This record gives sequence, structure tokens and C-alpha cells, in this order.
Amino acid sequence: MVFTVGGIKGGSGKSTIATNLTVWLSKQGYDVLLVDADEQETATKFTKWREHITQGNSGYTATILTGDAVRQQVLKFKPKFDHIIIDTGGRDTTSQRAALFVSDVYLVPFNPRSFDLWTIADVENLVKEVRTLKPDALHAFSILNRADPKGSDNKDSAELLSESTVIDYTAPAIVSRKSFANTASNGLGVIEGNPVDEKAISELNQVFSAILSKFNVKNNVYSNVKIDAE
Ligand SMILES: Nc1ncnc2c1ncn2[C@@H]1O[C@H](COP(=O)(O)OP(=O)(O)OP(=O)(O)O)[C@@H](O)[C@H]1O
Ligand SMILES: [Mg+2]
Repeated sequence: MVFTVGGIKGGSGKSTIATNLTVWLSKQGYDVLLVDADEQETATKFTKWREHITQGNSGYTATILTGDAVRQQVLKFKPKFDHIIIDTGGRDTTSQRAALFVSDVYLVPFNPRSFDLWTIADVENLVKEVRTLKPDALHAFSILNRADPKGSDNKDSAELLSESTVIDYTAPAIVSRKSFANTASNGLGVIEGNPVDEKAISELNQVFSAILSKFNVKNNVYSNVKIDAE
């Protein structure tokens, strides 16, 4: 399947979700391609760190694509991989539209802050527009990321996201936790973190599993896994 992780807000957690999903799927034995379609190249930097600590054995394939090449190349790569994950930038770019055109699934992280949530309508319009141009279905899912550990903001934000008839909200919220930044800066997925962050792993497991199960993609949940170099 082809997944685009996107949206039109910077810093919502797109690269975090994209890299964690890539690691999560590759650990299940799937052959995964991670496409970096953001000029900031966060996903590429992540992979470079990962290659460094795993001595070149990151467990997946990575490439950089921009503009319409995203569409053309992903179509070419599609038969060669089990899953393709495309990390896009936080704007409505040619790259993101090209990615959506060849994607089955659109994952859109939102932070539970009003500025982020105000972009829902614009993301819905983008999805609706792409759906009119695209022969195959585009399933869109919102994920509440960097959620507050306490308080009622998450519930209010989740309710707001659930109201969309265009983008399906996927519970639970992924709470803001240090382990996300700590693992990412070492080229690791949260499931590989040391110390083990059981809550973060459980939230990721539930969100990824809920989405994949909708498409009958076989998947396991993790408690913690070792990186190959260890
Ligand atoms: N659940 C989380 N808990 C704590 N920190 C998080 C979480 N998700 C993301 N972050 C942190 O938030 C910052 C932005 O995340 P990330 O780079 O994934 O966002 P992005 O949407 O890809 O940003 P950009 O629009 O710049 O591409 C990073 O420092 C990341 O480590
Ligand atoms: Mg990013």
C-alpha cells in the first residue's frame, strides 16, 4: 500500500509518523520504501542516522523525490515494495499532490492547538479535490499527535476531528512524549527505544494497527524490539 503522511501545517509530526510507520512495518518483515518528498529532508536525515548505527542495515529502502517525479517514480516502485511511505512537507505543494495521486492512504497528524485544527477544512478540500481527479480511492485518516498528557483539550480536539465526514479520526491520541524526539535523533523508531516507553509504543501500535486492519493488512503489535545492530 502507498501511504502519504501530510497536511498543511508545519511541525504536526508528519516525519515522526512517517519514520515510525516505516520502522514499524519493516520490523513486521515487510519490504518498505520511505520516500522523502519534503525539501527539509528530515526523513533522509533520520535514515542517515539509522544507517550509521545499524552499519548500513536500516531495514528499509529510502529515496528522495520532488514534484511530479513523486507520482511517476512511486508508480514505478509500487510493484517492487510491500509498502511505500511518503513524507511530505507542511504545505500544499506539487509534491504532496503528486504523492496523494498515487496513494491509497493519507495520514494527517494534527496537534491539539487551535491553529492546527483550523486547517482541517483546508485539508478536507484538498482531499475532496484529489478524489475527483484520482481513479482509485484515497482513504484519509487524522491522527491527534503531541497531545497533552492531561486535561480536556485532547477530548475536545478528538471530537472536532471526529466530526469530519471526509477524514476519519483514528484513536487514541498520541501524547507528547520525550521518547519521540530521543529515538528520532538516533534514527530509531519508538518501538526500538531504550528506555522503553510502553505508553508511546502502545499508542502507536493502536493507531497503526487500527488503520492497517481496515485494509486487512496483516500486522503485529510490539512491546519493544531490538535494532539489528544490537
Ligand atoms: N508525539 C510526540 N511527542 C513529542 N514530540 C513529538 C511528537 N511528535 C513529534 N514530536 C516532535 O515535534 C517536532 C516536529 O515533529 P516532526 O518533525 O515529525 O513534524 P513535521 O510535521 O514533520 O514537521 P515539518 O512540517 O517541519 O516537516 C520534532 O521535534 C519531533 O521530535
Ligand atoms: Mg517533516
